[in-house]
Amino acid sequence: MTENVNKTEELIPSVDKTTDEVAWDLYRKAIRFGTWDPAAIDLSQDKRDYEALDEDLKGYLIHFCTGFLDAEENVALKFCPWIMLGSSTEQQAFLSTQLLEEFKHTEFFMRYFKEVIGRERIPSVKNAVQQKLDERVKKMLAALDQGEEEREEALVEGLTHYQGIIEGVQAMTGYDVFQAVYGSKGLFPGLGEGYARIKEDEGRHVGFGLRMLKLFARKPEHAKRILALYEEYLPLILIRYDQPVVVDGKEYPTPPEVKGRERVTKMFERRLKDILGTSVTV
Ligand SMILES: [Fe+2]
Ligand SMILES: [Fe+2]
Repeated sequence: MTENVNKTEELIPSVDKTTDEVAWDLYRKAIRFGTWDPAAIDLSQDKRDYEALDEDLKGYLIHFCTGFLDAEENVALKFCPWIMLGSSTEQQAFLSTQLLEEFKHTEFFMRYFKEVIGRERIPSVKNAVQQKLDERVKKMLAALDQGEEEREEALVEGLTHYQGIIEGVQAMTGYDVFQAVYGSKGLFPGLGEGYARIKEDEGRHVGFGLRMLKLFARKPEHAKRILALYEEYLPLILIRYDQPVVVDGKEYPTPPEVKGRERVTKMFERRLKDILGTSVTV
């Protein structure tokens, strides 16, 4: 499952089943397989790797892991409206597993700072797409009191923002960056294991979200809405990797393997194709 998570055909559950059947299958999968414990991953080699790492790569790791911790924590704290807008017991049951999983991902990175990096995260990593979740949450909560049509619009935009962009583009690009910069050199096996477990969870989250969006996109007004939101957010997504890496006032180089702009753009195009079924080049 882990190695196939980026392959669209593995990621998006069948559109032949009903949404409630898919949601229930994913709920049962989360109950059976989503049982890893962030506290149980062995981080002892990571600590040794970190101590031996050169200063520039240490600086980048602090910046990179701060980005992940900020993001996982923010999506965990803001997720409740997505559950509340679920339109059945089955959908809300599955989405409730996602809420717990986002807190587990947060816990893993909190532990990583404490036990491996040995310091607090830095305050300065910019993620403009995450900041926009505050207004998204307000819109979704307001939609709970409105009619069917408004609820559906709010859900389409919420799924695009969260599952389609934050998880489907930003987080998935992050796994590849970790692999390119550290994992492929045999560094940080504990972090690699954490990412592997997180990717399995995210496979369910993104898979469900993309499937919903793909079905919603059959209505032209929703397809237009989804594309507009992706396009509006692209400049904000690019900030994540274009910003300078600054830790405690000192600037560090971005490792050449990161290729953030290239990776993000490719993932962005792939997700739009997953949802809209046509090639969209940006
Ligand atoms: Fe997560
Ligand atoms: Fe997630």
